[in-house]
Amino acid sequence: MNNIKIRLFCGSLFVNTSERNTFMILSERLKTIADFVPQNSIVGDIGTDHGYLPVYLIENRISKKVIGTDISSNSLKKIKQFVDLKGLNNFIDIRLGDGLNVIKPFEIDTVVIAGMGGLLIRDILSYNKDVTDSITYFILQPNVAAKELREYLYDNNFTILDEKLVKESNKFYEVIYATRGKCLLKDSIYLEVGEKLISNKDHLLKDFINYKINVAEEIIRELENKDTSRSKERYLELNKKIMDLKAVLKEIESY
Ligand SMILES: C[S@@+](CC[C@H](N)C(=O)[O-])C[C@H]1O[C@@H](n2cnc3c(N)ncnc32)[C@H](O)[C@@H]1O
Repeated sequence: MNNIKIRLFCGSLFVNTSERNTFMILSERLKTIADFVPQNSIVGDIGTDHGYLPVYLIENRISKKVIGTDISSNSLKKIKQFVDLKGLNNFIDIRLGDGLNVIKPFEIDTVVIAGMGGLLIRDILSYNKDVTDSITYFILQPNVAAKELREYLYDNNFTILDEKLVKESNKFYEVIYATRGKCLLKDSIYLEVGEKLISNKDHLLKDFINYKINVAEEIIRELENKDTSRSKERYLELNKKIMDLKAVLKEIESY
């Protein structure tokens, strides 16, 4: 498992003719997620798909054991082949199932739920309360609806310890690192833009906020031709959002 051979670049990972002996190199998004995983952890990677993260965590001796799950049996076949090829069956357990249904309470200390919508991540956390309550660290990467996911975390006794932005293929990703424990939401804008991204002065934050402002302004332009009460309400909401985002931009530009 420890031999490193010559590598050829292929998409988001490195492969060579002897893939079994080649260490996994992750994309920047997955590497950012992996960097949040605590040393010696026992991890559940829910919706693991290709299985790159479990293999990386074991090969780099970050985790003692990883349970990789997926709702898709096709994904599961791919992971099984990959884990077999790597000879990591003793360290990576592959399970077919929906969310945390296939994890027992206290079986893992850290969960990664990445590459799905924020509403699905929220549902996965809330459907199996006994399992969720037994987990210490949560590494969550919503592709959309990060605001709704943060709202769930603030309302349900989670503390956001840290956050990071990643930009890959011209798309922004928000990676949230949380634990259990009540945390006060000091300002509603922190649902839209994570408070830690601001206090950390995340190097992508300015770009990210400008991107959000542009999207909101585009929707506003479309709403200007509509005359329903819902469109008027939405227009006001978006104007408020733009004002709040511009205030954050002003704050970080003053640093
Ligand atoms: C876009 S992939 C993300 C893969 C990987 N986590 C990543 O971030 O690169 C989303 C995966 O989540 C799986 N998935 C969707 N809903 C799920 C659920 N309720 N429980 C487990 N897996 C789920 C899909 O089958 C798919 O393989």
